[in-house]
Amino acid sequence: MKILIAYASLTGASEDVAKYIAKKFENPKIVNLSTVKNIPDFNKYDKIILGSGIYFGKIHKDLKKVIEQNKELLLNKKFAFFFSCGSTDPKKHKEVIEKNYSSELKRKAMAISCVGGILNYKKCKFPAKIMPYLNLKMLKMKKQNPPELDYKKMDEFCEKINNITLNKPSKNTKNQNGSKTKTKKVKQTEQNKAKQTEQNKAKQTEQNENKIEQNKQSKTKQSGK
Ligand SMILES: Cc1cc2nc3c(=O)[nH]c(=O)nc-3n(C[C@H](O)[C@H](O)[C@H](O)COP(=O)(O)O)c2cc1C
Repeated sequence: MKILIAYASLTGASEDVAKYIAKKFENPKIVNLSTVKNIPDFNKYDKIILGSGIYFGKIHKDLKKVIEQNKELLLNKKFAFFFSCGSTDPKKHKEVIEKNYSSELKRKAMAISCVGGILNYKKCKFPAKIMPYLNLKMLKMKKQNPPELDYKKMDEFCEKINNITLNKPSKNTKNQNGSKTKTKKVKQTEQNKAKQTEQNKAKQTEQNENKIEQNKQSKTKQSGK
């Protein structure tokens, strides 16, 4: 199975996330969307994982561009999004998801997860005029509840991606009509149960017949006396 992990990161947090996630899959291709020369062909991958930091409520522009350019391709693939941000408020995370991904992408994604964040903006140069605003924003977020990368959430994110098997419906998953699809294993268990019931019935009938036969014999013996 071929996995692509593509990320964009201003201050390194999403890069760390991408590297951690990469360890959970076999030989994934990992690319930094802001530095890679050619964006990999999504068609060549079975599962595509995309992520970035959140800046003024939005995902990184390089990630946004790649999503827009490959939307149709993505919708025919297995894909998932992660983002790292400074806010620890789940309401804000929901807002980020609402704002940044179309309803089609949200519906079809294997997972969309916030995986914590780091306030590490000194790693990156920003235009001088936004620095005071940024300082204030960071200070506010740090005071409220300083964020950190959440490895448990990353593990859960990877589990969701790993549990979705390509071209096979998962156990009792709903099909396109909304009815439940039974897996081979579930069908087998049901067949075994039916077989067991049949065997029990046959055994019961045999026991009943034996009893009747015994009664008959004892009656003949008594009448012979
Ligand atoms: C310019 C800038 C704007 C940011 N705006 C937000 C924001 O609107 N909401 C938020 O939760 N975090 C915000 N953050 C915090 C980042 O999302 C957080 O530090 C994230 O982990 C950065 O990811 P990265 O290191 O991959 O770039 C901002 C950070 C920077 C540098």
